[in-house]
Amino acid sequence: MKLTFLGHSAILIEEGNFKGLVDPFISGNPLCKITVDDLVGITHIFVTHGHGDHIGDTVDIARRNQSLIITNHEISMYFSKFKLRTHAMHIGGRTKFDFGRVKMTNALHGSGISDKDNMICGGNPGGFIIEVNGKKIYHAGDTGLTYDMKLLEDEKIDVAFLPIGGNYTMDIDDAVKAADFIKAKIVVPMHYNTFGLITADPEIFKNKAASNVIILDINESMIV
Ligand code: NI
Ligand code: MN
Repeated sequence: MKLTFLGHSAILIEEGNFKGLVDPFISGNPLCKITVDDLVGITHIFVTHGHGDHIGDTVDIARRNQSLIITNHEISMYFSKFKLRTHAMHIGGRTKFDFGRVKMTNALHGSGISDKDNMICGGNPGGFIIEVNGKKIYHAGDTGLTYDMKLLEDEKIDVAFLPIGGNYTMDIDDAVKAADFIKAKIVVPMHYNTFGLITADPEIFKNKAASNVIILDINESMIV
């Protein structure tokens, strides 16, 4: 399985015919090194919550690729208005797909969708455990530290993507505790340094965490 960090919280997961994209914040992220044109054959898009830096280019990419969008019920309803293919699920639910299994996890955060002057209800924010070909990837979404993460230890996660940037999510010290709860084989930091409010040094996270932390540069991939 190939995992590529596209910057912020955008992750590309590739395994055989499966090309899953999580929180595709591409065109709006000046640090992102690819464009939406580079994302071809995307079979699935996972959206953790309704904030703009996570919904990102979902509508555009889903239209071009006929991708199935997997997200919570409320955000799924929002995307349905664009005549896009969606699969709604919700916190705590696990479902089988043709590529494997997906569980939605909870997150301590918001999920409102900004639409010009209005705020559309985006339900509860979440994260995903995406299981493909025997490998489990946890994408925490945007979240504060929660003791519920301790339950994820039982999932035997292979790779956990955790936010470390603070202000809107866990900072480094809380992410160190989260990593300790989850006990994933590999932890990859995300949601830092995209803008000033979430400045964090991933090397400090790597040094403080007891887990095996791998820092991925933007557009860097790893094989697991
Ligand atoms: Ni957010
Ligand atoms: Mn965010």
